[in-house]
Amino acid sequence: MDFTRADFPDGFRFGVATSAYQIEGHQFGGAGQTHWDSFAATPGNVVRFENGAVACDHYHRMDEDLDLIQGLGADVYRFSTSWARVMPEGTGAANAEGLDFYDRLVDGLLARGISPALTLYHWELPQALADKGGWRNADMPDWFADYTETIIGRIGDRIWSAAPINEPWCVGWLSHFDGHHAPGLRDIRATARAMHHVLVSHGRATQVMKAMGVGNLGAVCNMEWATPASDAPEDIAAARRYDAIYNRFFMGGLFKGAYPDDVLEGLEPHLPHGWQDDFPVIQSPLDWVGVNYYTRKRIAAVEGAPWPAYAEAPTEGPTTDMGWEIYPDALCDFLTRTAREYTGDLPLFVTENGMASGAAPDEDRIQYLAEHLMAVRAAVADGAPVAGYFVWSLMDNYEWALGYEKRFGLVHVDFETLARTPKASYHALADWWRR
Ligand code: FCB
Repeated sequence: MDFTRADFPDGFRFGVATSAYQIEGHQFGGAGQTHWDSFAATPGNVVRFENGAVACDHYHRMDEDLDLIQGLGADVYRFSTSWARVMPEGTGAANAEGLDFYDRLVDGLLARGISPALTLYHWELPQALADKGGWRNADMPDWFADYTETIIGRIGDRIWSAAPINEPWCVGWLSHFDGHHAPGLRDIRATARAMHHVLVSHGRATQVMKAMGVGNLGAVCNMEWATPASDAPEDIAAARRYDAIYNRFFMGGLFKGAYPDDVLEGLEPHLPHGWQDDFPVIQSPLDWVGVNYYTRKRIAAVEGAPWPAYAEAPTEGPTTDMGWEIYPDALCDFLTRTAREYTGDLPLFVTENGMASGAAPDEDRIQYLAEHLMAVRAAVADGAPVAGYFVWSLMDNYEWALGYEKRFGLVHVDFETLARTPKASYHALADWWRR
């Protein structure tokens, strides 16, 4: 990989990302049931019904994993805490063992000179709250605020940054409209409520953390570029709707205090009463924004179908093991567009980027990362205030509905023995990150 740290702005931070349920081993340490456990146990939802019960057993191998992050020369480790590990019933009593675990994690990072970047929610909702309607329930912001207080009360004094919710689009749309992630609903009303409550919960947690003295607060949104499948005006409008639902809804809520008209067209009748009054909470000031970027889609209109009346057209160009098109240019476009239209001078981070590949050596991953790092450089050259880039992921892990089949890691994990082996991509990054 032909880079040095000098190719990026002063103080630019490189890092790796993971999430709790995908690596920890949820059966260990007294964690409560989550909606991913029941979703995965339901036939048809997850490849081979796999779940995160053992995952990478990071719970027992934390020190080895922290050594790997240090060996890579990463400045930042973006991890998440599991709500159900910290509060097994979602509300009420905390699990001391769970809090101790995250306490050790943060200390272990600091002892190795790595900045802890916390995400409070990366998808494993406590089952007890899912039973009450989960993200559809208007009490979610209160429950989430309690959990925030509990975890921040323990580790908030030592973290470098915090973001409440990973990828609002996945929590809202993918899980409640597409039904691809837990709780697996396909319901427009549930979707509208979840999308709104995610943003209100984000705002509440931001306020709680600020009041507790935590600085460097952000939001992490995934963005997917939408290219019209043809020049037909219907396809152009369909791609615009896709972009509105996926990208502009959340950025609009956070930075403009408004939802795009092309989303309200479909969701407004289903939003909770008084939604317009929630923007002051949703817009609680932030210190940075994270963009998770992987791919783009070609979008076509579907005539006669109900809103949003679009479908994905076949990809063009090379794809990863996920079937996702490799399209680095859109990372540059998203970074510049986000700064121009929403965030201004606020620092931007690429909080996730990476590819699924089973290749060994993983030269394809090295090339993917290099092309996307070039896109980050292009965005910086265009004036976007990009301040860091984190790879998804440190190691192969539980890839949600795709189980253990898709490998995103810089480190190979043998899911029989749980042995970790750094891949070529790990060494390629370490070559210049360690300097
Ligand atoms: C993102 C998720 C992460 C992982 C990658 C591949 O959407 O945040 O957990 O699944 O995709």
